[in-house]
Amino acid sequence: MTRTVYYTATSLDGFIATADHSLDWLLSRRSDPDGPMGWTGFEQRVGALAMGATTYEWMQAHDPGGWAHSVPAWVFTHRRLTGYPGADIRFTRADVGDVHAEMVAAAGDRDVWVVGGGDLAGQFADRGLLDELVVSVAPVTLGGGAPLLPRRLELVRTEHAVNGEFVCVRYDVVRTRPGSATDPADA
Ligand SMILES: NC(=O)c1ccc[n+]([C@@H]2O[C@H](COP(=O)([O-])OP(=O)(O)OC[C@H]3O[C@@H](n4cnc5c(N)ncnc54)[C@H](OP(=O)(O)O)[C@@H]3O)[C@@H](O)[C@H]2O)c1
Repeated sequence: MTRTVYYTATSLDGFIATADHSLDWLLSRRSDPDGPMGWTGFEQRVGALAMGATTYEWMQAHDPGGWAHSVPAWVFTHRRLTGYPGADIRFTRADVGDVHAEMVAAAGDRDVWVVGGGDLAGQFADRGLLDELVVSVAPVTLGGGAPLLPRRLELVRTEHAVNGEFVCVRYDVVRTRPGSATDPADA
C-alpha cells in the first residue's frame, strides 16, 4: 500500500537549509547510502515525488548532472520554471489533495516521496495525507534557515539507526481524531 513519506535530512535544531539555502553543512557529512535507513533502500520504494519551487531551483543550480529521478515528479510553484528534456516533471499550483491523488495513482504499489521543503510537507499533513516522517539528523545546529516541518504533529517512532555521522529516525504521523483532545478544531 502506498505511503506518503517526508524523507529528509535536518540539522539538530530543525532546519533543512540555511537562510541562504546552503546545504554545505549537510553535503560535507559522512554517510553510507547503502547503510541503515540509507538512500538506496528508500529510493527503491519511491514511485512519485513532490517538491516546492525553491528545492527545485536549488537542484537546477547545484546538480550539473541533470535530473536524477525517473519517477513522475510534481513541482509546486507559481514561478515560470524550466524542465529537463525527457523528464516527467509536472509544474502545478493545483490543490495539494488533488495532486496527491494523482501521485498515488502514478506511484502504483510504491510510495510517494515528499522531498520538501517543510511547509509543503506540512500542507500534506494539514490534509491528513502524510503517513511518515524519516529524518537523518546531522550533528550541527544552524540557528535558523528553512524549517523542517513548521506544524505541530504528533509522531510515533517506529525505527532508528546510526548511519555515518547521522542519527536516522522514522516516525508514523498520528492522525488526530475529530473531537479528540489533540483536534486543532477544539483549541
Ligand atoms: N536537507 C534536505 O535534505 C533538504 C531537502 C529538501 C529541500 N532542502 C532545501 O530546503 C530549502 C527549502 O526551501 P523552502 O522552505 O522555500 O521550500 P520549498 O518547498 O522548496 O519552496 C517553497 C516554494 O514552493 C512554492 N509552493 C509551495 N507550496 C505551494 C503550493 N501549494 N502551490 C504552489 N506553489 C507552492 C512557493 O513558491 P512560488 O509560489 O514562488 O512558486 C513556495 O515559496 C531549499 O533550500 C532546499 O534546497 C533540503
